[in-house]
Amino acid sequence: MGIKITDRLTVVSGDHNLTNYDEKVGSFDWKETETAFSWHASGKVNAAYEAIDRHAESFRKNKAALFFDDGSRKEVYTFNDLKRFSNKAANVLKKHTTLEKGDRLFIFMPRSPELYFSLLGAIKMGVIVGPLFEAFMEGAVYDRLSDSEAKALVTTPDLLKRVPVEKLPHLEKIFVVGEQIEENDKIVDFTNQMKEASSTFDIEWVDREDGMLLHYTSGSTGSPKGVLHVHNAMIQHYQTAQWVLDLQEQDIFWCTADPGWVTGTAYGIFGPWLSGATNLIVGGRFSPENWYSAIERYGVTVWYSAPTAFRMLMGAGSSVLEQFDLSTLRHILSVGEPLNPEVVRWGMDELGHRIHDTWWMTETGGHIICNYPSMEIKPGSMGKPVPGIYASIVDDEGNEVPPYTMGNLAIRRGWPSMMREIWGNPERFNSYFLKEEWYVTGDSAYMDNEGYFWFQGRIDDVIMTAGERVGPFEVESKLLEHPDVIEAGVIGKPDPMRGEIIKAFIALREGVEESDQLAEDIRNFVKKGLAAHSAPREIEFKDKLPKTRSGKIMRRVLKAWELKLPTGDLSTMED
Ligand code: WTA
Repeated sequence: MGIKITDRLTVVSGDHNLTNYDEKVGSFDWKETETAFSWHASGKVNAAYEAIDRHAESFRKNKAALFFDDGSRKEVYTFNDLKRFSNKAANVLKKHTTLEKGDRLFIFMPRSPELYFSLLGAIKMGVIVGPLFEAFMEGAVYDRLSDSEAKALVTTPDLLKRVPVEKLPHLEKIFVVGEQIEENDKIVDFTNQMKEASSTFDIEWVDREDGMLLHYTSGSTGSPKGVLHVHNAMIQHYQTAQWVLDLQEQDIFWCTADPGWVTGTAYGIFGPWLSGATNLIVGGRFSPENWYSAIERYGVTVWYSAPTAFRMLMGAGSSVLEQFDLSTLRHILSVGEPLNPEVVRWGMDELGHRIHDTWWMTETGGHIICNYPSMEIKPGSMGKPVPGIYASIVDDEGNEVPPYTMGNLAIRRGWPSMMREIWGNPERFNSYFLKEEWYVTGDSAYMDNEGYFWFQGRIDDVIMTAGERVGPFEVESKLLEHPDVIEAGVIGKPDPMRGEIIKAFIALREGVEESDQLAEDIRNFVKKGLAAHSAPREIEFKDKLPKTRSGKIMRRVLKAWELKLPTGDLSTMED
């Protein structure tokens, strides 16, 4: 039997946080979840309607949906407010562009209420939204807007300086959020236009397989790729918000992730709002005091963050923690990198809670392997697959291997929030699959005899630094643009705080002298061209880098040098 959202609180006891996991895992079908949505009866879909308007039309109309706090702005919005403001945003976007269903709009700004209004407004138009980290510099912005042929952009006056407008022929209009924006044929003053716009809007009803979000993410080769998610993903966001986040409608939920990352959309927007919970969005910079204080001031009950943040809080010590009352917390979760057993123990000792690890990726669109509230946690394990997901460990031919054998973590195709396309690159999309059946994640792992999965590492060269996924190729390409650099190889170097840091090995052009000054200059060059988190923290100069005969930098050898490990088979290396 499906769970009806409106009477969920009374229906779901015992079902809500998977106390019956063993029974569910064998019998669950995602069709059960679909009956929770209004479109199940009407056949009309729009995820923004399900997340916001549906509640605004119910007894939750005046319930707080969003607490926003970035230090300078502290604002509260009800579901009805969000409905009205997203309608206004949709009207503003529609009035000034030719945006239609399936067109791309990007949002490039720090977290602010306007980010959420415009994201929801664009989705109400059937437009595909690409959210970008505010840390991106010109090169990173250009790559994403040009690859997706974006027609419109929402940004701020500061960040607009990093948009190479003249190089983006498809970009019709830029909506600038700020005070007294000078308008011209490209620039629209978003804030001003919002004041006059109507707060009613005819939602574009779409097919559940129509595009909704385009998240660019890094692989080990090539430039960042656009991972397309569709409206149908909300089925999984909603169901896992219950099973894994354990969200109930009286919860104050805080997901610390930026919407530039898939966690910040799937669980920073859709999971909580589809569940009718109150979402806290905190902007500004990280500090242990700010974070603990946010939990205290807003009475956060469920908190979703990442290992790097937990490690920094752990490092700040109990003297900081003791100054705050965190007694409202009920459930804490982690995502993005391996959660060290040490951090789980810190959570139990200092916060009084087990931190629940969750494993998934941009491409999976939603939770895949998790530690549920009701489950016994094995510190260091990612947990078990969500009911409706079949995960396994396979060899390179796609054959399943027995427990305790390390191999490729793979998921059997066909879950609701699975990516539907790599933007403009069907070959790349197809390259993810083995035997048509397995989506191969690029992570290596093993399963134990009780069905728990244990993360071992990335199979490719993708770097995870402080939870950010950085493709070495993108950094290497940027390094090669520096006039003094002739060769560059980039690896992730293990780091106790950040998981990994980016280390670059660089060969300089003939006649150029190596120096600390030059290393700093090269670091800034990447910072300015891509983003601060993509810049190598360590640079080592070499006369020559190890390459294959076809000229490909052998990162595996660089890594072995760095870790003082054997270099392995060097038969493909040039002389
Ligand atoms: C890593 C979006 C260990 C993993 C959520 C994966 C993790 C990559 C975990 C995806 C975890 C994510 N334990 N590793 N719980 N969660 N990862 O797309 O390597 O930015 O393939 O994450 O992060 O990165 P993405």
